[in-house]
Amino acid sequence: MREVAVLGIGQTKVEEQWDKSLRELAGEAVLAALNDAHLSAVDAIYVGNMMSGSANKQQHLGAYIADWVGMRYAEALRIEAACSSGAAAFRNAVIAVASGALDSAIAVGVEKMTDSPGHEITAELATAADADYEVDQGLSFVAINALIMRRYLYEFGWKKDDFAPFSINAHANAVYNPFARFHEPLDEKGYQRAPMVADPINLMDASPMGDGSAAAVIVPVERIYRQPGVPLIKVAGSAGCTDTIAVHDRRDPLWLMGAERSAHKAYEQAGIGPEDIDVFELHDAFSIMAALSLEAAGFAERGQGPRLALDGEIRPNGRIPIATRGGLKARGHPVGATGMYQIVEVVQQLRGECGETQVPGAKIGMAQNIGGSGSNIFAHIFKAE
Ligand code: COA
Repeated sequence: MREVAVLGIGQTKVEEQWDKSLRELAGEAVLAALNDAHLSAVDAIYVGNMMSGSANKQQHLGAYIADWVGMRYAEALRIEAACSSGAAAFRNAVIAVASGALDSAIAVGVEKMTDSPGHEITAELATAADADYEVDQGLSFVAINALIMRRYLYEFGWKKDDFAPFSINAHANAVYNPFARFHEPLDEKGYQRAPMVADPINLMDASPMGDGSAAAVIVPVERIYRQPGVPLIKVAGSAGCTDTIAVHDRRDPLWLMGAERSAHKAYEQAGIGPEDIDVFELHDAFSIMAALSLEAAGFAERGQGPRLALDGEIRPNGRIPIATRGGLKARGHPVGATGMYQIVEVVQQLRGECGETQVPGAKIGMAQNIGGSGSNIFAHIFKAE
């Protein structure tokens, strides 16, 4: 396999984008990424998306987007892995270019959720859970995560308010991200006052729905013309791992085995350990997922994720900065696009482009994207050289 790097990135704002079609959203991110890479076309487009068939009545996203961005004859296809569709698309693009099968590719994540009523999207999201044993019992994704969080509070003795710093950090960082859904800071009182959605998950523990798209151009390192002072962003690790689709089938419902294994495979490829990661864009779809991700990826002991948040270690100047551009909680979670937002944000950090929320001296970053309630997870490590 040859070494590959991210040459260009692009993203749209996450919001209710009723005035734009799915292809306009994806096109905006793809063209921005191509422009950033100083390229006009690539060999292939990998599209990460979860629900365009039902939410937008549009399938066949490969041809649909390739034509729109002026790459009518390029190879293109859609990849679906629920909320980790974006990182799944990126991983497939990386494999294609690293193997030598292609000389360049774009991975783009796109999702347009807000054209349909909320209850329809909630039902659509639930198709990523087990239809027979979870959804049939009336569970939604918020409800599944509420059960996990309730058990976590019981097992480890944390109070619900101990999770507030995850949301406060995400909202504080999103203030400075022009592409984020929310720009209002949150304080402890605001967290405590938030309406309950599914006890113990309140509105501030949950990521919002939204429309958005993010993209990255991947090329072999050997083809990059190095410019002095411009960091090369290498893909140092790329791995995926599945787990049971239903939470009750896991030996330990409070441990994200897919997150542990995908992170460790990526660490091994990169020749590093968790102690070397400067910035970690994790999958904080719910604040409980942020805690479980920190633990599974090796930053905290089992049951101790909230400690890092309470001690301020997840802030941009802390030991392991997370959600540095707002995370899923405040940048937003357009599901099939989210994995690509995380990757774009890690690249921004390693390029030193994050202004007020820049992690000082960031050289190595990880993005980890979770599909379902921990059932399909992709981890990517990037190194700035
Ligand atoms: N955080 C903060 N504010 C939020 C929010 C969130 N997660 N979700 C919605 N809001 C705000 C909206 O901006 C809106 O504010 P406004 O009145 O000032 O415009 C208000 O709350 C109502 O928005 P609405 O879209 O009607 O909210 P809702 O009550 O229909 O939905 C949730 C709220 C939390 C139920 C919904 O966002 C949700 O289901 N989130 C989880 C999505 C999910 O499961 N994703 C997959 C995870 S793997």
